Amino acid sequence: NYYAVIMAGGIGSRFWPVSRTKLPKQFIDMMGTGKTLIQATYDRFRKIVPKENIFVATNESYASLVREQLPELTEHQLILEPIMRNTAPCIAYASHKIQQLNPEATMVIAPADHLILETDVFAEDVVKGLKCAEKNDWLITLGIKPSRPDTGYGYIQYGKSATVPGLKKVKTFTEKPNLELAKTFLQSGDFLWNAGIFIWSAKSIIQAFDKYQTEMNEVFKEGTEIYNSHREAKFISGAFVRCVNISIDFAIMEKADNVYVLPTDFSWSDLGTWSSVYELAEKDYLGNVSASSEHVIVYDSSNCMIHAPKNKLVIVKGLHNFIVVQSDDTLMICPKDQEQGVKQIVADVKEKF
Ligand code: GDD
Ligand code: MG
Repeated sequence: NYYAVIMAGGIGSRFWPVSRTKLPKQFIDMMGTGKTLIQATYDRFRKIVPKENIFVATNESYASLVREQLPELTEHQLILEPIMRNTAPCIAYASHKIQQLNPEATMVIAPADHLILETDVFAEDVVKGLKCAEKNDWLITLGIKPSRPDTGYGYIQYGKSATVPGLKKVKTFTEKPNLELAKTFLQSGDFLWNAGIFIWSAKSIIQAFDKYQTEMNEVFKEGTEIYNSHREAKFISGAFVRCVNISIDFAIMEKADNVYVLPTDFSWSDLGTWSSVYELAEKDYLGNVSASSEHVIVYDSSNCMIHAPKNKLVIVKGLHNFIVVQSDDTLMICPKDQEQGVKQIVADVKEKF
């Protein structure tokens, strides 16, 4: 009765110029391991749930990328969204569809673009969560020990230990706080980052949608008889336009009172920036990272993050503390400590080209 849903519909704009609307970061081998992030995510779940129970939820425009990168998936394991409405509608749709297949389903929902190193620890934690969600009407999320006041994450304040060892009841859930608040959370010591990996039964999450996102739930409930039939795509194209654009964190997690956290300690990164890739990647003795290394030649350089596709030869000499990113049509060279500027660059470039 265990299912996995991989969410792979975001655009990952901070990894410009490699991550683009046409090729978001989940479809890229960010770490130079020979696997794209979605392939690595799929492999992690392959060890946890039967392969026919792994679903990928993404925008229609990425369907061919998913088919290409995960050839093992059958068509019915692709959950396709006609328009981008963020993660709440995506999860509402996936949950109703899976519940129609199996009313007793318990599922883990995870982003396609995270880097997780200790995959065995990850598997143990997810199995523990699944067993727990099977028996309890709980919305479980994996929690990560925070290391900096990052405003790009959800913050979970945990309270009492739950009846299941290892889990804790969640007191408050604050999605993407401002910097001041994030600093306070970090100092207070009883906060974790939301890893964005959720575990619950289809029944529990549908109940939560019914309670906190009643209209959205009604939209997808109407499809109950239609899911997994030839009428599904047509129904869905009408359903998504009726949904508000909202993430699961704001839509449900901040509001629900049956949220539990499973604190974990595998190394985790949501690979938000080039520097985060740099921190985690294997470096040469001078501290250079060059993903797809046969195509990158480095002389007399140190502490550089260099990324290039397989069909480009990139040569760097005498460069220190820089990010060099070559995509098929764009080259960006930027000092590592000025990476915050990338967002502005993308905005400027989008206006002109
Ligand atoms: N199918 C689908 N459809 N997937 C989507 C959509 C959509 O419309 N929008 C985003 N996704 C996918 C992204 O590709 C990513 O894998 C995942 O859903 C999460 O979306 P992000 O946009 O990356 O969310 P975030 O990083 O800002 O915040 C979430 O993750 C953080 C941890 O990385 C939140 O859950 C935070 O609370 C959490 O800390
Ligand atoms: Mg993310």
